[in-house]
Amino acid sequence: MGLFYVTTPIYYVNDVPHLGTAYTTVVADALRRFHLLSGDDTYMLTGTDEHGQKIERQAEEQGLAPKAFVDAMSARFREAWPKLSIEADRFIRTTDPDHEAFVQDLWRKVRATGDLYEGTYEDWYCVGCESFKTEKELEPGNICPMHKKPVERVKEETFFFRLSKWEKPLKELYARRPELIQPQSRRNEVLSFLEGGLRDLSVSRTTFTWGVPVPDAPKHIMYVWFDALANYRSALGTGAEARFWSKDSTIVHIVGKDILRFHSVYWPAFLLSAGYSEDELPIVFAHGFLTIDGQKMSKTLRNAVDPVRLAEELGPDVLRYHLLRAVAFGQDGDFDHHALIERYNADLGKNLGNLLNRVLGLCNKLAEGKVPALGEVTPLEQELFDRAKAELAAARAAWISIEPHKALEATWAVSSAANQYIDRAAPWAAVKTDPARAHTILAALLAVLREISTAIWPVMPGKANEMRAQLGLPPVEHALGKDGWPTGPTPMVAGHALAPSGALFPTFDEDGTKAILAKLAPPKEGDAPAGDAKAATKAPADDAKAAAAAGDASVITYDDFAKVDLRVGLVKTCEKVPKKDKLLKLTVDVGEPEPRQIIAGLALSFTPETLVGRRVVVVANLAPRDFGKGMVSHGMLLATGPSEALHLATVEGDVAPGARLK
Ligand code: MSP
Repeated sequence: MGLFYVTTPIYYVNDVPHLGTAYTTVVADALRRFHLLSGDDTYMLTGTDEHGQKIERQAEEQGLAPKAFVDAMSARFREAWPKLSIEADRFIRTTDPDHEAFVQDLWRKVRATGDLYEGTYEDWYCVGCESFKTEKELEPGNICPMHKKPVERVKEETFFFRLSKWEKPLKELYARRPELIQPQSRRNEVLSFLEGGLRDLSVSRTTFTWGVPVPDAPKHIMYVWFDALANYRSALGTGAEARFWSKDSTIVHIVGKDILRFHSVYWPAFLLSAGYSEDELPIVFAHGFLTIDGQKMSKTLRNAVDPVRLAEELGPDVLRYHLLRAVAFGQDGDFDHHALIERYNADLGKNLGNLLNRVLGLCNKLAEGKVPALGEVTPLEQELFDRAKAELAAARAAWISIEPHKALEATWAVSSAANQYIDRAAPWAAVKTDPARAHTILAALLAVLREISTAIWPVMPGKANEMRAQLGLPPVEHALGKDGWPTGPTPMVAGHALAPSGALFPTFDEDGTKAILAKLAPPKEGDAPAGDAKAATKAPADDAKAAAAAGDASVITYDDFAKVDLRVGLVKTCEKVPKKDKLLKLTVDVGEPEPRQIIAGLALSFTPETLVGRRVVVVANLAPRDFGKGMVSHGMLLATGPSEALHLATVEGDVAPGARLK
């Protein structure tokens, strides 16, 4: 048993919960649930960041006292998260009295070391970032590159924190403990920032009042990031929960890449200065940013895609699954409404849901709705069990290394293997000659389904338990010190009653898909208000329509282009085609339950082994092409060049197979 403490950023209350903040919070909750299931002693923290100039101004604009404003806005977050099945141990607010008292104490500790001194600050400040900016960080015209708004010139008395003193210790720390910043690419970012040198940091303000007062210097209020970062420690207090901040605890701050520097430069420096030891520093995992249907999350768009509404329409588990599966954690990714429904139909409906349905249906038909007995295990069952065991171990490893997308990939590989097994073992045929064999097949499948029902719990707590109810099993349990992560199929008790109750994930047919997309998807091009990012895409689309109408055959409309289903594929296997010099036979994962077979004229440029594991671009809705001898190609790869010197089209980064190109 270990101690595991996971946090999300505390969110600014000038905004409402949106898909971006929901993403971070869902990941943290899923990680926490994995550790709960593994028997760890866990704690999850989320909350709201309520002080600072940005919030004070927003309250003013709305004609409200800051406290009334933050009370109302903070409640939006507190109420949203449970609707996404997020269960934090504490929802902290930086206006909580115990937090304020803690921050003042932290300040005193830092001051006592001589790391705080008084002076005058004069430079640029971006209120949106709540961050000081050097000239070289700004775009021409003194524009903040993040907020695209002019920064403000600030000149005021301030306390400085001696950040420069921590440059060397931090460099040494990260050289010694690379795991403290993840993933690796983010670590490099921090290292190069440190290489650039650290300037002392202004950590108090005197020109407004909405913040925590600096002890013994009533004119000053604390810089909002000093106050905010301290939440991670203040939340635990000094009682029993303080155990989560110790060298024995794994402390993980999940943050977006936008706030990496605050977490991996300022925060450890504050902690070390205040006397915390190096072996109780947090791991900072910075993930990428989501776009929505390929577009940056402008405020309009962001508010059009309300995670709570998505959860109400599809169920929280479906949203959680998609968010975690569609994006390789750490990378930027797109939340695409079409892909959401496609993935729902494929992974949830056709893969796992259908497997459960088929097995329970067959148990009804062939075993009186009860768990049949597992008889003699043949190599076929053994293969399934071995595969399940290996994939479950891989999923566990992925959860531990904070790679939820990989954990889900491995978990679903178990379901795919079981689907393949059922077709190969064909219990419906076996029953005609050997009923005991048919029972063994079903018992093997039930043993695997039980493991899957536990393994999906961190991401789909509700569906996991619904699935278990259908299998006649109690809800997932977890207990301190007891590792409940499934390790490999063990047969269920024979004779135990099953309780099928309909499709776990009813799929959307074509009309259903259209209807749900019409309900969910944000307004289309052209509906966007002027000035919004989407409006910019309107003109070229209209131009194309006009050109097409005027008979210019070389120009196609967007709708024509959209007919081509271009997807990211991951090459799973590849082999030469005997007697065909140019052809390779590949299986390519395009986000469907089974990889597709694709025959491609690549053999003059590539040997098969160099293609396995590569990401390719697949035309997925091309009519199948028969190359003879049962070799049918279900798609085409994009490439350029002569056949003996081809270059394959690909995408950057670890994009999930099946992602659409648009
Ligand atoms: N209040 C600070 C954090 C203080 S933590 C001590 C803050 N708040 S915020 O409301 O702006 O939230 C930023 C975080 O929201 C990001 O770091 C990220 O976790 C999440 N996201 C906001 N937009 C996002 C996307 N478009 N995509 C993914 N996550 C994003 O910064």
